[in-house]
Order: sequence, then C-alpha cells, then structure tokens
Amino acid sequence: GKGAAMVTAVAQRLASRRRDVDDTLAGFALSTAQLQQVKEKMRRELELGLRKESHGSASVKMLPSYVYRTPDGTERGKFLALDLGGTNFRVLVVKIRSGIRKSVRMYNKIYAIPLEIMQGTGEELFDHIVQCISDFLDYMGMRNTCLPLGFTFSFPCRQTGIDKGILVNWTKGFKATDCEGNDVVDMLREAIKRRNEFDLDIVAVVNDTVGTMMTCAYEDPKCEIGLIAGTGSNVCYMEEMQNIESVEGDQGRMCVNTEWGGFGDNANIEDIRTRFDREVDEGSFNVGKQRFEKMTSGMYLGEIVRQILIDLTRRGLLFRGRITEPLKTRGIFETKFLSQIESDRLALLQVRSILQHLGLDSTCDDSIVVKEVCGTVSRRAARICGAGMAAVVDKIRENRGLDHLDITVGVDGTLYKLHPHFSRILKETVKELAPKCNVDFMLSEDGSGKGAALITAVARQHFRNT
Ligand code: GLC
Repeated sequence: GKGAAMVTAVAQRLASRRRDVDDTLAGFALSTAQLQQVKEKMRRELELGLRKESHGSASVKMLPSYVYRTPDGTERGKFLALDLGGTNFRVLVVKIRSGIRKSVRMYNKIYAIPLEIMQGTGEELFDHIVQCISDFLDYMGMRNTCLPLGFTFSFPCRQTGIDKGILVNWTKGFKATDCEGNDVVDMLREAIKRRNEFDLDIVAVVNDTVGTMMTCAYEDPKCEIGLIAGTGSNVCYMEEMQNIESVEGDQGRMCVNTEWGGFGDNANIEDIRTRFDREVDEGSFNVGKQRFEKMTSGMYLGEIVRQILIDLTRRGLLFRGRITEPLKTRGIFETKFLSQIESDRLALLQVRSILQHLGLDSTCDDSIVVKEVCGTVSRRAARICGAGMAAVVDKIRENRGLDHLDITVGVDGTLYKLHPHFSRILKETVKELAPKCNVDFMLSEDGSGKGAALITAVARQHFRNT
C-alpha cells in the first residue's frame, strides 16, 4: 500500500545518500600498496635532502641540528628556555641535576601571542617575545642572573651551528614580515639590545622535534627519533654524519630535522591528494607548501573535514542543504572537537550537541555522516604519517646494517595526545610497513622546554670538551 511505498522511498533516499557519501570519501581510503609507495617516496626524498647536489632544492629539507648526541644523564645546571611555534609562547627556567639525584625541574609561564603580532612585523614579534622574557625574569626575581638559554623555535631553520638558524620560511599560522632569510638568534639578540634592560646568553636554537627526542632520550637511550603530531607535523632522527653531505665530517651522528611537512611540495604525491586537500591548500597562507603537513596535522585536518562537509551540504546530502556561517568559518574544527566527535564513548546525541556548540544544526543522520567524515580524514592522516615513519626507521636500520632494529620514538603534539584513534592507527601502520623494526612510542613530557635545556646542557659540555 501507500505506507510501504513511502518506506521504500525513504529507504532508497537513504541508500542513495549513503552511496554519494561513500563516493566522496573513497579517495581517502589508501590501500597497503599505496602506503608502501608513500613510504618509498618518502625514503627517496630523505636521501635527496641529505645529498649535496639536491639538498638546496629538496622538498624534505633534512636540516642539520648540530646536536651530536642524546643526553647521558651527566647534564646539569640551570637554564632558561623559550618555546615559540606551538599553541602558545612560553618562557621557562629549567634545573637539571645529574648523578643519583638525576632530575629535571621546571617553572614556566605561558604568554599568548596575539594574532596581530603573529602576522605583524618581525620586529614587533621579537619585541613582544623580549617583553614576555622581561616579565618572566621579574616574576622569578632573576633579572640579574644571566643563564644560558635554549630557544625552541619550531619552524624550518637552516643551521650552521647550534646557535645559528636562518628561518627558511614560516609554516603553520605564522607570517610576521622580514623574518624569512634572517637568523632567529640575531633577531632575538637585536630585540634584547633594543630594549636595553638585560642580557641573555643564547646557546642553542632548537626545533621542537629535536627537543622532544632529547627529552625522551633522557629517560630511554633507545630514543633516537622525535615526532610532532600537533598543529604541525614533523620528524627528526639521528643520522650518520657521513650521510649528511652538507656538513663537514664523517664521524659519529647528528640529529637531522627532516621537515617532512614539505613532502609532496614537488608534486610527487598528487596521486593521493584529493580535491579537498587542494581546496585547503588554496585557502592557506602558504599555498603549494607543506602539502604533507596539510594532510597530517591538527591545524589542517579540521579544514579538510570542513571542505568535505561544505561539498556534501552543497549537494543536499547534509544539514538540509544549508551552508551556514559557521560552516564557512575557517578553523572551527579544532583538534579537540575532532577528537571529541570521534570518541567511541560518545553517543550520537552528544555528537549533535558538539555540532550545536559550533553553531551547526544537525539531524541524527547528519551526525552519523559528520562522524564518518572525521574518522576518514584522521585515519588517512595516521596511515600516511605511519608510512613516513616506516621510511625513517628502515633507513636507520639500513644505516646500521641491521636485520632488526629496536628503537623508540619520542612523541608530542595534540593530535597524538588527544585524538582517540590517531596514535593506534599510526603504530599499526608502522608495524605493517616496517616489519623488521620494533618501534616503541614514548610520550614526551614537555619536550620543548625540557629538551631546549637538555640541548643547551649538551652543547655546553661539547664546547668545554673541544
Ligand atoms: C612545522 C614546522 C616544523 C615543526 C612542526 C611541528 O612543520 O615547520 O619545524 O617541527 O611544524 O611543530
């Protein structure tokens, strides 16, 4: 009868909506063979970044860090640390003790970097930083103690020494003018001079991946890799000096900041990018740059989700076909919301209330689709990140001529820490793609602050010994 016909019509509409959603998301499902290819391509790019002839133009920059070893527990002293490039700017004082009372203690203060300063001039940015340091020194009553300082600056820097780093280009949300091409330590020193209130002894400039590796290595000597899966995405690891052709010397190892976020900037992973990735890229500050980062990090996953939701809505498959203001707003899907939406403990009604909180009116069916979109995007991120990591661990294994490698990765970042599935899928993928390696993951406790201090301590010892 009529009722049955209506039920059939509804069922058909749902089935066709299902098909349309599935088709839209199909490009995000990568086969093991495709991941294997990502791994191989990453491996090739790592090599190109290390070679002298290709280093300058490589998409994966492989920047030397001038950190020659991980900590061994003999480090000690009191240090200042700065941390710029994550969610906040922080100033810290770090006390490291060696011997049987081996320990690290820290005091820190967090300062916001207002958007207009992040996107103003370089002078304004560094004046603001020095203003924060000044406030911190007053607060701690340390204005007259000139401690050695480690500066965690989480952007690509071409280093020619532990205390020299030329900013190659801004990444993530930063775009202060007149900084690219300049030495960040010089810019900091000049801002200190301009203020003319106190002096600092700047010993080291540090990438957050390197700080994270050092922090975890302090607890576990098997840690020779650092991973950030947060606002940005990046990896560092201990490479053989003889393979780092842009640095003199063949003895021992040095930590290399891969800047793997730039993987794909030479258009060699276009086969796995979707039209949504291209849209996210086109709406970003650095079009065409950091293509891998834009598929794997917290700053962009929510944007990919948003582009898909807009597309589905435009086609009448979501939100009753209405593209509302919140849906048009860049950055509304922060990592913390994606993580909540994807939590298995959350009922659909709660998903709807999160969407409501973001200003999005959803039906129950809508919330199912949104959750699926989030899951698809974050799963791909974890899988290609795992493929990249598989390339790194296999390279280290081959460097050392081993059939089997046991290694630990120190990790930090909101995506890794907050997301309910990212870390598990990442680990599964590494296991699948690098079966000859046993890779442990160790969460870093404040890698940027502690790590900068440890690197400063190691650098000091190094100078004393040479
Ligand atoms: C971006 C930066 C890189 C940093 C990463 C994680 O990729 O270019 O230097 O390590 O974000 O913060």
